[in-house]
Amino acid sequence: MKNNLVVVDHPMIQHKLTIMRDRDTASGKFRSLLKEISLLMGYEATRDLPMTNRSIETPLEEMEAPVLSGKKLCIFSVLRAGDGLLTGLLELVPSARVGHVGLYRDEETLEAVEYFYKGPQQLEDRLCLVVDPMLATGNSAKAAIDKVKSNGAKNIRFICLLASPEGLELLNREHPDVTIYTASLERELNSSGYILPGVGDAGDRLFGTCK
Ligand code: URA
Repeated sequence: MKNNLVVVDHPMIQHKLTIMRDRDTASGKFRSLLKEISLLMGYEATRDLPMTNRSIETPLEEMEAPVLSGKKLCIFSVLRAGDGLLTGLLELVPSARVGHVGLYRDEETLEAVEYFYKGPQQLEDRLCLVVDPMLATGNSAKAAIDKVKSNGAKNIRFICLLASPEGLELLNREHPDVTIYTASLERELNSSGYILPGVGDAGDRLFGTCK
């Protein structure tokens, strides 16, 4: 099967990720590191955006200068941990539209259950970046992408901090048209569906709700 994976292994990302992995890293620091990483990953995921030229005047002369073209892209945050990637990506692309997909994980079946959806119109004409820090079982990512596609999206990329081999396999199988950007392809999932070695529960670490 084709593997649509881009591991963004830039040294700055890997250094920041190591600090995030450390169990003693506090929530505020974890949040700011994820934001910094999302900016760097956003560069990669938007590398081939279509461009056009616009006439402008510099202080010295006229020129045809490149600007982004086409409909504004849309960032879909998979609640709640996706918001940890959203803030950095919005700094990179302030004009982006934002959608939210609310999914929780049934702790027994590990299946994704939808409880919220809100997104912009005309998704068929936009690049859609679906973001969730952890591609674990892949169930939430699959459900979020199903939802975005059912609302018209045709050009979708998925951005996560960490991917498990199991989640990657599922997403490649169910959505072979979606390229996945991650900072690390991890070793495995444990029996509770957590990524190893991982960062723990990304939502809890982002928002300080760890037990
Ligand atoms: N969700 C998380 O927050 N962490 C994991 O390791 C897996 C799923």
